[in-house]
Amino acid sequence: METDKINIPQHIAIIMDGNGRWATNKGFSRDKGHTEGRESAKEMVRTCAKIGVKNLTLFAFSSENWKRPKLEIELLMGLLHNSLITELKELQKNNIRLKTIGDTSKLPLVVRKFLEKVCDQTKNNDLMTLTLALSYGSRDEIINSVKEIADKVKNNIISVEKIDESLINQHLYTRNLPDVDLMIRTSGEKRISNFLLWQSAYAELYFSDKLWPDFKSEHLLKAIEDYKSRERRFGKTSQQII
Ligand code: IPE
Ligand code: IPE
Ligand code: MG
Repeated sequence: METDKINIPQHIAIIMDGNGRWATNKGFSRDKGHTEGRESAKEMVRTCAKIGVKNLTLFAFSSENWKRPKLEIELLMGLLHNSLITELKELQKNNIRLKTIGDTSKLPLVVRKFLEKVCDQTKNNDLMTLTLALSYGSRDEIINSVKEIADKVKNNIISVEKIDESLINQHLYTRNLPDVDLMIRTSGEKRISNFLLWQSAYAELYFSDKLWPDFKSEHLLKAIEDYKSRERRFGKTSQQII
């Protein structure tokens, strides 16, 4: 399946869900699901870059995922570390910039250091921005931004009247990223799970029953075709859009 570049979403965000169930269904341990899930993530990056998506944001680890068993967390951190090491070259070759959103101070030090290195070394790449949401929670992000803004008001750096959408945007982890156009969640769950609540205010939502390791390019392209067929009215009437 091919897709033309007209009307391609500028920003796709994906809640990559279903690794554990994929593995359990096949009689494997959950680890295997995460390892396989990584392949789907790589495929999404390649495909998005190829078809002209400018921003891809992947939900890789939530602020709530710290509640998982210690061993599973260790495995996920190890996988992340390992992927960063192996993918740095790929990102460079394909002119992709890596960014992160979330409270990365909670990540193991070695992972954080390597993450900083990859972000730094790819910061001038401009074909596509790949953002990994790590230790990310939208409510945390909003709380942080409120604190930063309140602090600036208290210290007379800004006045209360200056607080508007754009100012709040600038204080979120996602500053410099456009709003989400298309949000995809796999595994049949129909919830947002504290992901980009503010940034998805007008996103088109797409839910797939595929478990994440089974979600491949053809499914992404199907989601994009679906997106393209929708009329985004942003509160206006159909006639106003035409
Ligand atoms: C998504 O798959 C990966 C992460 C949340 C890290 P899950 O691990 O949530 O898989 P299920 O939902 O248990 O099947
Ligand atoms: C959301 O998946 C987080 C990621 C995909 C990283 P979860 O599997 O953690 O979400 P819930 O808890 O089922 O909503
Ligand atoms: Mg899940």
